[in-house]
Amino acid sequence: MTVEASASAKIILLGEHAVVYGQPAIAVPVSSLRVTVSATSQGKGIHIVTPDLNHALPADFQAQPVNDALALTTDLVLEKLQSPPPDLTITIRSQIPLASGLGSGAAVSTALARVLCTALDRSLDDASLNEIIYEVEKIHHGTPSGIDNTVIVYEKPVYFVRNQPIETIEIGQPFTLLIGDTGQAASTRIAVGDVRKLYEANPLQTQPILDAVGQIVVEARNCIKTGDITTLGQLMTRNHGYLQQLTVSSAHLDQLVDAALAAGALGAKLSGGGRGGNMIALVTETSKTNVHGALLKVGAVRVFETTVIG
Ligand code: PMV
Repeated sequence: MTVEASASAKIILLGEHAVVYGQPAIAVPVSSLRVTVSATSQGKGIHIVTPDLNHALPADFQAQPVNDALALTTDLVLEKLQSPPPDLTITIRSQIPLASGLGSGAAVSTALARVLCTALDRSLDDASLNEIIYEVEKIHHGTPSGIDNTVIVYEKPVYFVRNQPIETIEIGQPFTLLIGDTGQAASTRIAVGDVRKLYEANPLQTQPILDAVGQIVVEARNCIKTGDITTLGQLMTRNHGYLQQLTVSSAHLDQLVDAALAAGALGAKLSGGGRGGNMIALVTETSKTNVHGALLKVGAVRVFETTVIG
């Protein structure tokens, strides 16, 4: 018998960096990029095979946290279900690039937890699953905000304010994003540190930028609920302007954002830590092919499409 389960990637839609200073942020699932886990009843005990993860690991990545996360996920699920370890060979396949702000770790743990439940013919509600994945996230991130596990477990947009309960957002109308990868690795930690320096050097100039981003995120939440995709796009582009002022964009990110807008995107911005990494463009059925081509033309190393359907 073989059973299967999956989980999606995630990306920050709005509010990165300002979220560190108590402003809200929104993250959305990337349902087109998935981890798929299959479990076959065979062998003795649990064996986990991770071909893609092993192959995709960057040279400086320590395999240990991944293995620990898999072991902890398994232990916590079995403990919650009060089940002895079943005899299973589990294979994890992932389309999600590692260490790129797409939530690969939380997605792997979520899909693994789900396949264990299915193989045991049991179920865990999303709230219990979310608690387990949050525990596992601590291995990767120390003190995770909880945004990655929540957006991935519920596979819904999430509205997040530090130290407050996370809200999922209902979607008035599905919307499509293109994710353009600069191919440039960038340290979120350094970008966050530089924003901190900027804030400390010029609090009076920086605070209004952070407040303005927070206001954008509040408005965007309403747009997502009511399905006002045009305004959502404008808010994303405005958010990018503030991220530029916070010094976390880069020439290449700006070039990708400008190309997406010129090709007809409703809005575009960098996503995540910035300075490199990914940008996102909000597109319509009619603009998406143009925007996709435009991003590749100005040097995106890959472009993913995803529709947020809630
Ligand atoms: O690149 P990601 O998805 O890990 O996002 C980083 C988001 C920041 O706001 C820049 C940092 C943070 O801890 O919230």
